[in-house]
Amino acid sequence: MRSSGTTQAINKIPYQEATVAAMFIPPAAQTPEQVAATAQQEELIAELAAADTLLIGAPMYNFTIPSSLKAWIDHVVVFGRTIGQGLFDGTRVVVASSRGGAYGPGTPREPFDYQERYLRAVLGLVGLTDITFAHAEMRAANDGEPSLAPFVQFSADSLAAAQATMLAEATRPRAIPAPQ
Ligand SMILES: Cc1cc2nc3c(=O)[nH]c(=O)nc-3n(C[C@H](O)[C@H](O)[C@H](O)COP(=O)(O)O)c2cc1C
Repeated sequence: MRSSGTTQAINKIPYQEATVAAMFIPPAAQTPEQVAATAQQEELIAELAAADTLLIGAPMYNFTIPSSLKAWIDHVVVFGRTIGQGLFDGTRVVVASSRGGAYGPGTPREPFDYQERYLRAVLGLVGLTDITFAHAEMRAANDGEPSLAPFVQFSADSLAAAQATMLAEATRPRAIPAPQ
């Protein structure tokens, strides 16, 4: 299985003003900074295009994804370059997610889940629609906070379910495309 390590790499590569500016300037007229930013973006796009599985580790921060993951998304979901282009068709996505609270169906915080909903929406723009989420929820109950004691078992069960989902994904058979 080939997989992408881009979420690690992007932690060292913040999204830059030059990356956006370069989208609107012909290559011959770009500054060295814009050329470098475009090259970096193309490297991330090529890495994702070559992957058959994209594994994302995504804790919930402020009801959504961490800003480092958002920076990577802004590099690879690009109007006029990757959106609607079919570059990533067939790539499977697995999201290993952890959350301090719980956001499942029927919970009071369900409407605040801008993590899974956002990832499905934005990755769908570039054809990444085969997405499996493994949420380990209520992690805050493990910090010893007395008011969360009633949720310790929920937290353990949620983690076990997320681990089972990850294991099932790791062993899920993949359709191998026929040679052209
Ligand atoms: C900056 C920050 C913001 C966070 N925001 C949320 C949040 O909005 N909702 C939530 O459920 N947990 C939130 N958390 C908790 C993390 O999701 C949780 O610590 C993370 O999933 C790691 O869990 P762990 O204890 O298993 O390492 C936040 C944590 C940090 C550091």
